[in-house]
Amino acid sequence: MDPGRSPTVLVTRRLPEHGLDILEGKAEVHVWNEDRPMPRDLFLEGLKGKDAVICLLNDRMDREAMDAGRDLKVIANYAVGYDNIDVDLATERGIMVLNTPGVLTDATADLAFALMLAVARRIGESERYVRSGSFTAWGPELMLGKDVWGAALGVVGAGKIGTAVLRRGKGFNMKLRYHSRTRKPELERELGAEWSSLDELLSASDFVSLNCPLTEETRHMIGSRELELMKEDAVLVNTARGPVVDEKALFKALREGSILGAGLDVYEEEPKVHPPLMELDNVVLLPHIGSSTVTTRTRMAEMASEGVLKALGGEVPDNLVNVDVLRRKG
Ligand code: NAP
Ligand code: GLV
Ligand code: GLV
Repeated sequence: MDPGRSPTVLVTRRLPEHGLDILEGKAEVHVWNEDRPMPRDLFLEGLKGKDAVICLLNDRMDREAMDAGRDLKVIANYAVGYDNIDVDLATERGIMVLNTPGVLTDATADLAFALMLAVARRIGESERYVRSGSFTAWGPELMLGKDVWGAALGVVGAGKIGTAVLRRGKGFNMKLRYHSRTRKPELERELGAEWSSLDELLSASDFVSLNCPLTEETRHMIGSRELELMKEDAVLVNTARGPVVDEKALFKALREGSILGAGLDVYEEEPKVHPPLMELDNVVLLPHIGSSTVTTRTRMAEMASEGVLKALGGEVPDNLVNVDVLRRKG
């Protein structure tokens, strides 16, 4: 970078509140200000000559994008998940990849819990019932649901969000299990959560919450075999990434009643929803809003901006995903 000039930063969507104020006067910021995602051709064009990009989880940062953004030194994802970025390629090219861990943990865990409650207590269905004018009398069997309090909760991917979901489960007096690649003795001590194989967790849990990242290992981790292992009155909640679940297999399980219901914040071909899912009453569908609170989204923007400034200033930001890039830079 020419030392005399301000660094240039592309921001692919307007961000809430004052999250980008930190960049003011310190960088030349180009924000895509329209109320829709940046079209691919304009995105590729916009990356040209930029030192950094603050991008969204639906912006594919692949070879084509990194070829267009040949001057990029930093890719800051406005999300904690970074499956949209070819991290290996970024490392190879000496580009730092940043994400937004931690600041969105509780908001996302709250939403996972909201989905558990919504499916178990038939909130979406009940709401549609009232709005359609069908509520004519209180009834002993009206919208009978499933207890959350005291039920068995299984969390797949006991990282930051998974742990926060387990904590909420403890408050609901739930029996806690988790499945992760590595065991977490502190979690077992603090919350009394038991480590299980994935199969054991699926067959023992009343509620299964997916909280792992999307990787080659976790793609379609939940398919027809796994759904078959679940209890007939179990609920599956996915706030991780759509492709962790085989959506067609899930539809079949929901339609045939081999599980009770599902709560989804994410989809295999986002923003497309497997159309037949829309017809089912035992699934609650949300538009990927896990981290969507004013405070959280503002903190995410601040974290992205702070990280970009640090990285461009030659420091190592805390939220660096590809630490190997430092070795490469020497
Ligand atoms: P994190 O702290 O890195 O936790 C992810 C956990 O999953 C880690 O404990 C990880 O390692 C575990 N894991 C990885 N591969 C696994 C596998 N094959 N099987 C089982 N566990 C595996 O990340 P986080 O902040 O909790 O976020 C988790 C994910 O949530 C993100 O990657 C993102 O995709 C999603 N997310 C969604 C929303 C939303 O709006 N819906 C919001 C935020 C995040 P160990 O197995 O070694 O423990
Ligand atoms: C949202 O899905 C995130 O990964 O932050
Ligand atoms: C229900 O409203 C009750 O009072 O039990």
